[in-house]
Amino acid sequence: MRPQFKTSYHETCTISFHNNLTTFTSLKAFDKSKRVVFLTSPKVRSAQSQFIFQLKKKFERHTKKSVDIIIIRDGEPHKNLQTYQKIISKLVALKCDRHTHLIAIGGGVITDMAGFVATTFMRGITFSFIPTTLMAMVDASVGGKNGLDYNGKNLIGTIAQPHHLIIFTDLLATLNTRDYHSAWAEVIKHALLQGPQAIKKISRYKDRIIKRDSKTILKLIKENIDFKLRIVSQDVNDSHTRQWLNLGHTIGHALETATDFKTYTHGEAVALGMALEMQLLSKLNIIPFEFAQQVINVLDEFGLLGKFNPLPASTWKKLLQKDKKKKGQMLTLTAFHPSTFQPKLVSLDIDEVVKCLRLLKNPKII
Ligand SMILES: NC(=O)c1ccc[n+]([C@@H]2O[C@H](COP(=O)([O-])OP(=O)(O)OC[C@H]3O[C@@H](n4cnc5c(N)ncnc54)[C@H](O)[C@@H]3O)[C@@H](O)[C@H]2O)c1
Repeated sequence: MRPQFKTSYHETCTISFHNNLTTFTSLKAFDKSKRVVFLTSPKVRSAQSQFIFQLKKKFERHTKKSVDIIIIRDGEPHKNLQTYQKIISKLVALKCDRHTHLIAIGGGVITDMAGFVATTFMRGITFSFIPTTLMAMVDASVGGKNGLDYNGKNLIGTIAQPHHLIIFTDLLATLNTRDYHSAWAEVIKHALLQGPQAIKKISRYKDRIIKRDSKTILKLIKENIDFKLRIVSQDVNDSHTRQWLNLGHTIGHALETATDFKTYTHGEAVALGMALEMQLLSKLNIIPFEFAQQVINVLDEFGLLGKFNPLPASTWKKLLQKDKKKKGQMLTLTAFHPSTFQPKLVSLDIDEVVKCLRLLKNPKII
């Protein structure tokens, strides 16, 4: 068990790491008086049926109450109000009350949806996360942002911390290659925000990460959680330095929305977003060309700059106008100090950004 992460005077989250259920022996941190409900997806339930079965038994022994399982479809096209309504209807049908503890077992879509459901159902119930994708372990289940897509990416949501974040690294064994690779975009983003040494380290780890070497993966997960928590705890409500974490996301979210969340995984869109943002900032002389090219090379080395469908200027403009971080006509992007490479925020006019974006046809070449 790691020290508690305090996000504000009343919210804490405990984080624990396991390979599998054999070391998850004590549930005493969980309030016995609460009824537990699992939220998962058909795919996760079938890929990890034994794990879920054993976990259910453990909680039933602990609370002396039966554990219900709500199953909803995951994947980005299902992160929406219809799915939210389905979950709420199921909680109501199960006669859940404010003494229910919701445990999300799934990837980032399930944890994002669960956090939002838990913070809004009956004005808030307690919740925990058991992430099952690398994306959710290194990023989505950390920091308390949750929500769903509505007329654009993550337009509805709240910020609230889970009570417990429990990582079981063996769950990654059933994840397919594409969904596993998708997480690297956020891992590279975290490295970039920590400076050139961290980027070099990621490149050195590459082969072991690709082979899913369990020691390397556990180290990677811990380092990424520590880094994200360091950033988040300085600015839980996302008003200044937490916004550095949006690197690649302004353009990435636009790409996801433009393709109805069907063409790119979240990580693929963020990787392309980072490459295009680097090109843009270099063309606007905000960051040096060599630095932009180095970032693009790392993304390419990890095979993250695959298919890219350029968008017409009018589509870019329409999508960027919907970005939830924009202020009037201005977008905030994460850039870097030209010599120290310390991250910083820059404010750019949407028209200036679009003028540049419409010329970018290849994410690998500046
Ligand atoms: N809240 C945050 O701070 C934050 C940060 C990063 C990403 N996100 C969100 O996370 C989402 C992306 O998360 P994701 O990449 O985990 O996608 P996902 O939740 O859609 O999962 C990807 C696929 O993997 C399957 N899957 C999950 N676990 C599995 C397992 N153990 N074995 C086999 N299959 C498994 C799922 O069924 C799904 O088909 C996006 O919506 C993104 O916006 C949120």
